[in-house]
Amino acid sequence: MKKVLLVGNGAREHVIAETLKRSPQEVHIIAYGKAKNPGIAALADRYEIGPLNTFEQLKKLAVEEKPDFAIIGPDDPIADGAADALLEVEIHSVAPLKTVARLESSKSFTRDLLGKYNVPGNPKFKVFYNGEGIEDFIRNELGEDFVVKADGLMGGKGVKVSGEHLHSIEEGVLFAKQCIEKFGRVVVEEKLIGEEFSLMCFCDGTHIIPMPAVQDHKRAYNGDEGPNTGGMGSYSDANHLLPFITEKDIEEGVEITKQTAQALFKETGVLFKGIMYGGFIATKNGSKLIEYNARFGDPEVMNVLPILKTDFIEICEAVIGGTLDKIKIEFEKMATVCKYIVPEGYPNDPIKGAKIEIGKFPPAVKMYYSSVDQKEDGIYMSSSRALAFVGIAGTISDAEKIAASALSSVSGQVFFRDDIGTDALVQKRIDHMKQIRG
Ligand code: AMP
Ligand code: GLY
Repeated sequence: MKKVLLVGNGAREHVIAETLKRSPQEVHIIAYGKAKNPGIAALADRYEIGPLNTFEQLKKLAVEEKPDFAIIGPDDPIADGAADALLEVEIHSVAPLKTVARLESSKSFTRDLLGKYNVPGNPKFKVFYNGEGIEDFIRNELGEDFVVKADGLMGGKGVKVSGEHLHSIEEGVLFAKQCIEKFGRVVVEEKLIGEEFSLMCFCDGTHIIPMPAVQDHKRAYNGDEGPNTGGMGSYSDANHLLPFITEKDIEEGVEITKQTAQALFKETGVLFKGIMYGGFIATKNGSKLIEYNARFGDPEVMNVLPILKTDFIEICEAVIGGTLDKIKIEFEKMATVCKYIVPEGYPNDPIKGAKIEIGKFPPAVKMYYSSVDQKEDGIYMSSSRALAFVGIAGTISDAEKIAASALSSVSGQVFFRDDIGTDALVQKRIDHMKQIRG
């Protein structure tokens, strides 16, 4: 029997719990989160509610339960040192220690790391610690196409892109100075033009193994309109590429990730054990790095774990033990589409605490609970993404139809994007990339 401590209470952790339970080994799950996720609760042997920003209660639970290992899902506790806290009580995690979690929590750290160790994939960039030279750098080195990035976790709201959120160099300089005031530094970089893809890799500190590529959809509304969100939905293709992403694009992403893992160890002396999730963009000059995350992507994890063929327990043990080179990790050759149901007003002005009813939906659809709380009289949303539906089929088009067939089963004050994974939207991406590659 294997006992796993699972930290986090979103859809990411729900699909992790499901995948643990699919292991041929007997698995007991000890769940720890800040609310009761009914999907995880149904799979767990024990469910404890507690804070994710302090770790005393978590450590106490670990000491009591003595799990074989832990999996920490969300970015904030990883950045704050949850894996370090668990290691103090001799529990190893599939999640990096704080020192190497800076790969996600500090954008300047990552840009500087790639620069220092000559890892390919960086755009032209500069880190500023005061206002001096920002305007010159933008005007003389970048021109019209620039991006300003706050250097802290801001839930996707700390990045402003010229032409979208910033309408002049002056606005860019002003935002950069505000970022310096808040975090002490700011990253200013070249705006990259292309199609984005998520490439998540299992990493044991030395070896990396990629998962199928996924495309997330950050904008709130159909047609990629509206504010940025945590991700409204995502898809992956049966050949593990994307219809507009080539094998070469993926190989470059894998190579950048491999070299980044090596650079990270050289720089810190600490092995990164967890998920290295690169947000890449395929440009006319190849794959470039937008950012790294130090965890599974949400929703992207719901595209990859349901088609994982290999025993997930074995993978987790190899991540912790440094033996990923000894195992073969396989995914089914299937396409997947994930669509999120979110509260009205999400992300800027979401209603909070509204009740939802989930009716019947076709059995082919997978459903994962996200930011909901199960109370005695039903399921209540928080102010964030609530439920995800996933379709799996031979093509993206068919997987989309499966996921979409469940959307109308939810009643309450909710909305969703109905264009994610449709033929029309995928074709738009293909045409965009064709135009860029020339
Ligand atoms: P990040 O938090 O770094 O993932 O940035 C959020 C979003 O901003 C990304 O998903 C991109 O759409 C966009 N973005 C970030 N950096 C760049 C860049 N250098 N060029 C173009 N878009 C970017
Ligand atoms: N899919 C976006 C994220 O997990 O950060």
